[in-house]
Amino acid sequence: MNVMIIGSGGREHALGWKLSQSPRCDKIFFVPGNAGTAQIGTNVNLTLEPVNTKNADAIDYFCRQNKIELIVIGPEDPLAAGLADRLARPGRSVFGPTAAAARLEADKAYAKHLMRLASVPTAEYRTFTDPEAALAYVQAHETPLVVKAAGLAKGKGVMVCDNSDQAAAAIKRLMRSNEFDQAGKTIVVEERLVGQELSVLALVDGDTIFVLDPAQDHKQVGEGDSGPNTGGMGAYCPTPLLSEELTRQIESEVLVPIVDAMRREGITYRGVLYAGLMLTAGGPKVLEFNCRFGDPECQPLMMRLQGDLLEAMLATCHGKLEQVDLSWDPRCCCCVVMASRGYPGPYEKGKVITGIDRAQASEGVRVFHAGTALKDGQAVSAGGRVLSVCAMGDDLADAQRRANEACDKIHFEGAFFRRDIGYRVMAKV
Ligand code: AMP
Ligand code: GLY
Repeated sequence: MNVMIIGSGGREHALGWKLSQSPRCDKIFFVPGNAGTAQIGTNVNLTLEPVNTKNADAIDYFCRQNKIELIVIGPEDPLAAGLADRLARPGRSVFGPTAAAARLEADKAYAKHLMRLASVPTAEYRTFTDPEAALAYVQAHETPLVVKAAGLAKGKGVMVCDNSDQAAAAIKRLMRSNEFDQAGKTIVVEERLVGQELSVLALVDGDTIFVLDPAQDHKQVGEGDSGPNTGGMGAYCPTPLLSEELTRQIESEVLVPIVDAMRREGITYRGVLYAGLMLTAGGPKVLEFNCRFGDPECQPLMMRLQGDLLEAMLATCHGKLEQVDLSWDPRCCCCVVMASRGYPGPYEKGKVITGIDRAQASEGVRVFHAGTALKDGQAVSAGGRVLSVCAMGDDLADAQRRANEACDKIHFEGAFFRRDIGYRVMAKV
């Protein structure tokens, strides 16, 4: 079976690497891919944005020409814009939810509404379309609040505030200066929660839910969780934060009710459902839902996944997850993101990357490319998050040490990374 993977991040490289291990997988085409995906498949330059009839038809034509039977859509933007809907054809499987289902990520006001309907534990909230009403609300609340753009904003539309002045400033940024364009037209203002964060991802086939091992992301750019938020600077899996019992609780109190609530709205959820959770003193509460694999969470998940991902994805598309058998490597995996100087602000590009082979020579180490491109046959940096360096270890400390050692072998000018991935739980061990 030939496969197309849409996206160009570490997530897509990791998915392609895992899919390529399936005995049923023939060729893999990446749209657009990166320097790493070119080593395991063919990069194809097709226009993804906007998701309209013309661009979808071009992808469809390419898939027919190349006998592609499975399309995996990695990122949220094309999903929210309805690419899965447009590419669905008899005889072809598209892994990723429809636009209606992806609204769970693309519209935080809608997600909160559904959570309330389904009694899913989440922060108390209000939604606003009128800046004056939002400002009046936060002035009357002295407790710490979080202000969120309802629409997609590449992870930058969430402002965690200490007091009402900061919340007012956030509202002005989102609603008055239109920094986030349409995404900030509606905002969600919610209670600020405290606790450890974790990512629980599940495959959902419309009915059956298969919960993947829990992971923990590190969103802030600096060690000790300092500095601005990024797309994610590293993740490890599994996390000791979740007991078997707590996992079952999240499945029955979060995942099952939200999928059921969508079904009652006439929406069948198929694909990955990602719950971003805070473990509060009052139990786990949902911060957000995403309609796709997390990046970088996907990379350690793929490193540990045992079993056939291609079969699991097909089963997800066709309501047959019940028949799927997946298990996990018992070891821990730590993924460290190597980023370009300046990230998450304006960053440098075009720096030659060396040492990847040397890093990968160690057992259990794998380097997935994210923001890279090929220039004169060499891999160069081409994005803010450049590489996802993954290492397996007997425990988290061992995995972290091995991932950091691997990063030390890799060079590009201005590269930086966090050496402390996993520290939030390691300090307690
Ligand atoms: P989101 O995209 O909604 O997950 O938010 C991005 C980040 O903001 C999360 O990973 C949290 O670190 C933080 N955050 C979001 N909502 C809350 C909340 N209600 N309380 C505290 N922190 C939050
Ligand atoms: N790592 C966070 C995300 O993918 O949204």
